Amino acid sequence: MSTYEQLQETAAYLKQKIGASPEVVVTLGSGLSFLGDRLTGAIHLPYAEIPHFPVSSVPGHSGKAVAGEMAGRRVLLLCGRVHLYEGYSAQEVCHATRAAVLAGADKVVLTNAAGAVWPHWAAGNIMLMKDHLNLQGTNVLCGPEDDRLGARFIDMTSPYDAQVRGRLKVWARGEQMALREGVYAGLLGPSYETPAEVRMLRGMGADAVGMSTVQETIAARQLGARVVGLSVLTNLAAGVSPTRLSHDEVKATAALVQEPFARFIEKVVELF
Ligand code: HPA
Repeated sequence: MSTYEQLQETAAYLKQKIGASPEVVVTLGSGLSFLGDRLTGAIHLPYAEIPHFPVSSVPGHSGKAVAGEMAGRRVLLLCGRVHLYEGYSAQEVCHATRAAVLAGADKVVLTNAAGAVWPHWAAGNIMLMKDHLNLQGTNVLCGPEDDRLGARFIDMTSPYDAQVRGRLKVWARGEQMALREGVYAGLLGPSYETPAEVRMLRGMGADAVGMSTVQETIAARQLGARVVGLSVLTNLAAGVSPTRLSHDEVKATAALVQEPFARFIEKVVELF
């Protein structure tokens, strides 16, 4: 359980270490935790030293926060997250996002690795999340209500900021960047989907499938923060891909797209 008081302690620690409130918080998913060296005046804060921060057990999630300046904005990078499939509660999964928002970051960027459900989409593409399907069987707003975090029955009509998406799409067109936009299905994992599940997800309106992000989006929206969600399509989903899926493939594609992805994140921070 992550209480409001614990969240405030984490937020106070972050503000004190950074010396200011962050404006933008960027969570970096599987194999994407490489952006820290692109911040000016970087301050490194290992998760293990941040009060109440859950620490991930997944290889490829290095587990530290890095604060600094990017595109003229004070940014807090969260390099690595914890997942429901590790056994963490939805509250624990959302602790870092909530604490960052309480510390002042009202702009939230959530990234993830995901599988694409369309055969004509390519591994390595970046997808702007325009909506999501929460298929994780839980919701971070379940449980005792604490209205200091916001209302319980929150509107989710527009979870991912449409204005920022619009600006990013215009920019991407100018750059001739193959930017996708679509619906992310968040599943529990940790096994990848079966081909039948991928067909079902396609029928439900999903464009990409992964195992994170949706709880953090809900928590950030409850606190009134605006959210941009980005999926790195590391593979074609099961049954769409001619090959078997592996975490190694996901990490290898994520490593290949580091450079364009890093540049895109800088644009997101600039245009947010
Ligand atoms: N399915 C679920 N999660 C993922 C995938 C996938 O195909 N690729 C990366 N994360």
